[in-house]
Amino acid sequence: MNEPSALPQLASPPAPPPAPMGLLAELTHRCPLACPYCSNPLMLERAADELDTDTWRRILDEAAKLGVLQVHFSGGEPLIRKDLEALIAHAAGCGLYTNLITSGIALTQARANALADAGLDHAQLSLQDTDAQGADRFAGSKDTLAKKTASAAMLRAADLPLTLNAVMHRGNLDHLEAMIETAVHFGAGRLEVAHVQYYGWALRNRAALMPTRAQIDRATAIVTAARARLSGALVIDYVVPDYYASRPKACMGGWGQRFLNIDPVGRVLPCHAATTIPELVFDTVHEKSLAEIWENSSPFTRFRGTHWMPEPCRSCERKEMDWGGCRCQALALTGDAAATDPACSLSPRHAEMFTTAQTEAAAPAPKFIYRRGGSA
Ligand code: SF4
Ligand code: FES
Repeated sequence: MNEPSALPQLASPPAPPPAPMGLLAELTHRCPLACPYCSNPLMLERAADELDTDTWRRILDEAAKLGVLQVHFSGGEPLIRKDLEALIAHAAGCGLYTNLITSGIALTQARANALADAGLDHAQLSLQDTDAQGADRFAGSKDTLAKKTASAAMLRAADLPLTLNAVMHRGNLDHLEAMIETAVHFGAGRLEVAHVQYYGWALRNRAALMPTRAQIDRATAIVTAARARLSGALVIDYVVPDYYASRPKACMGGWGQRFLNIDPVGRVLPCHAATTIPELVFDTVHEKSLAEIWENSSPFTRFRGTHWMPEPCRSCERKEMDWGGCRCQALALTGDAAATDPACSLSPRHAEMFTTAQTEAAAPAPKFIYRRGGSA
């Protein structure tokens, strides 16, 4: 790994954008599953340290005042929080659009109805695989597929619009057609074909998860055909994964431009993986208002806009389109969060990233390392 670059900070950071569009409320790190690509930190927060209901209510008030439009209740597994309905009701009362991101494990029809009654606008259900054995292995759990199938039916019976989140990797990409059929069967209006992002646990398990180029090409063709076939019935979100892309995605819609995350203990983050960047020290909701943090805190201003960019981003015509890609990936792959994302073919580290992907995907898949210990 390279030494982190010591880029000069601007004396005065650029003016903040008007308002974040979305707030990701990570209510808890507790979760009944142990997916080997989990994007939560390697060190999870304890239940005893989680923000309480009143603090979350205050945060939702502040978010609405700041101009946030959508709140995504997430985790871990947000259903574990007994105050989820109260928080959804409060958010809805503030005029916020509410989305629940859930594994669906342990959902009951009564709970699904209560969530809908509280004002939930939309639910996003994760799906590990359409094969029962695979679903258990990729979730580190038991009877996963049956539980997800039941949860989808409960959410639809509660009249909640549904998105299916299919996290894809070398172990399940060959089931993509079945995933698409399952989304239709579940009554989902949208399917997110989300390739694994390699931070946190996914980076640890990268060699076991990395697909081949041929798998990606087949997946792209399947999605293209399905979009045409299912037009008007199912929206499919899909982007080529970074390790096989030539230009990076605008991660988080640009650092500190559209989203903010609050973790279970109240740290306010520009992205869910930002705690992997050691140079950043995060303010918490206990010390400062959300507006103050959004506008002025150093983790948000550090990579907001273009002032921090090195070459080739600094003089690139795409710098205000992709904002230099992903800071967490730049750190994970180069040791420098301020480097050009190696997903970009203009990065000096791009060829190395592509070679890593090809080499890992061609080798036999090692066993997964699970968060709770053990392997499979
Ligand atoms: Fe984006 Fe930087 Fe690559 Fe240009 S050089 S395309 S701004 S990552
Ligand atoms: Fe943190 Fe991309 S995941 S900026």
